[in-house]
Amino acid sequence: MKKTDTKTAVVKMLADNQFHSGQQLGYTLGVSRAAIAKHIKHLQELGLDIHSVQGKGYRLSNPIQLLSQPRIASLCERQGQGNIEVLNIIDSTNDHLKAQIPELNMGDVCLAEAQTKGRGRHGRTWVSPYGASLYCSMYWRFEGGFQAVNGLSLVIGLAIVSALKELGISGVGLKWPNDVYCQGKKLAGVLIEAEGQMESDCHCVIGVGLNIGLPESVVAIDQPWIDLQQTGNEVPERNVLAAALVRQLRHHVQIFAEFGLAPFHVAWCELDIYRDSPVRLLLADRQILGVGKGIDETGGLLLDITYADGTVGQERFYGGEISVRPA
Ligand code: BTN
Repeated sequence: MKKTDTKTAVVKMLADNQFHSGQQLGYTLGVSRAAIAKHIKHLQELGLDIHSVQGKGYRLSNPIQLLSQPRIASLCERQGQGNIEVLNIIDSTNDHLKAQIPELNMGDVCLAEAQTKGRGRHGRTWVSPYGASLYCSMYWRFEGGFQAVNGLSLVIGLAIVSALKELGISGVGLKWPNDVYCQGKKLAGVLIEAEGQMESDCHCVIGVGLNIGLPESVVAIDQPWIDLQQTGNEVPERNVLAAALVRQLRHHVQIFAEFGLAPFHVAWCELDIYRDSPVRLLLADRQILGVGKGIDETGGLLLDITYADGTVGQERFYGGEISVRPA
């Protein structure tokens, strides 16, 4: 058995929430107690909350719902588009798909239990503890070069909200361009990576991270965050959530590939958490103060700006980080 398979097997055995001694785990999996101790240590470093009690062995501090490929695939079966791969521990699901682009079909998806090098936008790290969230990437090919994917990230934000709504989760909104927010904090993020030539096909890997129940040990997140457990909503089974996300991603991207952003414009503006709110937009060289007015037809951010002479004009922006303006 490969080391990664042994680690998966250890988690599967612990998933019954009972104590298991190192000796018993080692005997069942055909490895030494010392090897089990190493796997446990690595899993703890990956954010899985395992505690040990002298004379009893190891036990998970909180119940875990492991991802199941057959279950997710069967819940997506009727849609019948693309493969679904479930990995245990991977550097980044985006990197995993990017490495195989020539062999991929549109709608192919991979999900992982943990990422060791999860990446966010603007070069940030995406903290990806074991079994605590969804880490999901999907491949799609667009005709018409990079221009064809303008606005795609906004549509992915909508797809995430639709998956959550489908499962009865309320109180979520969108922060331009593609963060999913709840109670003023980030619940999910999107990282789209595109490869291709100007006029030819554009190969996109669309990555989504959705916080479900992050462990208390998570301290290294540099922005206000929330997970589904804290939102007060009933948290769906992790595989059901994964399947809803995959279905909605495929559905939304298919429509976007055919019709562009137009069919999503109204829905996006309705979910905009900064609509009619005073905001600050941080650009590379300056900051802009304005009032949020939704998005334009290409996905640019619209802001009403009051100029020095007291007149108000509307401007559009295509980059930068938006936040609520302090009073
Ligand atoms: C953001 O900064 O808001 C984007 C976060 C995107 C995280 C997801 S998790 C799955 C995929 N793999 C990665 O390495 N990143 C994305």
